[in-house]
Amino acid sequence: MHSPQQAKEQYQLHFGEGARMFFSPGRINLLGEHVDYNGGFVLPAAINKGIWFAIAANNSNIANFVAADIEESFSVELNAIQKHTGWKNYVLGVLHILQQKKFLIGGFNCLFGGNVPQGAGLSSSAALEAGLVYALDKLFNLGLNTQQMALIAQEAEHSFPGTKCGIMDMFASLHGKEGHCILLDCQSLQYEYLPIIATDYELVLINSKVHHSLSDGQYNKRREEAKEGLSFFQTLNKNITSFRAIRQEVVVQFKDNFSPEVYNRCLYITQEIERTKKAAEYLKENNLIEFGKLMYQTHSGLSELYEVSCKELDYLVSEANSNFDVIGSRMMGGGFGGCTINLVAKNKREIIINNIVSSYQLKYDIQPEVYLVETSNGTHEI
Ligand code: GLA
Repeated sequence: MHSPQQAKEQYQLHFGEGARMFFSPGRINLLGEHVDYNGGFVLPAAINKGIWFAIAANNSNIANFVAADIEESFSVELNAIQKHTGWKNYVLGVLHILQQKKFLIGGFNCLFGGNVPQGAGLSSSAALEAGLVYALDKLFNLGLNTQQMALIAQEAEHSFPGTKCGIMDMFASLHGKEGHCILLDCQSLQYEYLPIIATDYELVLINSKVHHSLSDGQYNKRREEAKEGLSFFQTLNKNITSFRAIRQEVVVQFKDNFSPEVYNRCLYITQEIERTKKAAEYLKENNLIEFGKLMYQTHSGLSELYEVSCKELDYLVSEANSNFDVIGSRMMGGGFGGCTINLVAKNKREIIINNIVSSYQLKYDIQPEVYLVETSNGTHEI
């Protein structure tokens, strides 16, 4: 689906007039990967690809959903919400958590569809969950603020879909600001907007087309390994509440107390938390050259220490790195596939990206997709 107009028209065909329209964006993340659930900082931005919702109350006890892009629909009685399969779990998870928290909603008709590619690490699922919470809040006057909405969307993802994600994706979707990224402290949820001033360079995403699925267990496994590492440090000092309090030198000092995997995870997390703080400073100074170097470092850490990359993403990044005019590149999001994010010299972008795309295609027989990043405002009514 490519426009709100399309969503509105399709809604009319299914349910008639009277829908309210909402947009909920996907997100990119400039730096700070896999640290949102480890007490770190992140630098996401909402983008102009997302999900449109056409939605209205229907004075019944039934929620009717149409997933327009895949032409699937289903209905559920609000007093019989249960775990299902696939995309249905994202919307059912939202209804489940709202009910658990005693927010009263009535029946409604909802058609949604969008242009954010799925499984590409651009948070299509968070856009869906955050957008639904936002729309239901407006429809039934729940009185939620956007931080509460993000927390509900996160719990929704933990519940039926079962991915124990951090707060970054839904927070970014709900709080995005055009032309800016968000420096989010994932511990306190305090945030500030940093302008993305890209005069000579621009952000380009390359979708490896390796489909990533976070609910296949690897993401949750990383969370468990991180937790195991943290609990060791907590036995040393009970005041430690997150990796924020641990320096990488300390991790190195206690190396023998961990399995190689847990050691590597802890090392990566402590490095990435420091890196993101530095990156935010570089961004404030508009020092993109130094910022870009940190992106490459993050990729190495994600690939070698956190082990959430894959050979296709590694290849895209190494191709980027062999080019002087790509000053930063790394895999983005949960990993195991999806996109790389690249900081590319504007005047050379076309030729550079074409070269990367064709050598990737030659090597893996996959045609990657390229997206120029345009930031957007957070979830809103249209
Ligand atoms: C996924 C999760 C986020 C975050 C990223 C990695 O997108 O949903 O919470 O952990 O992976 O940074």
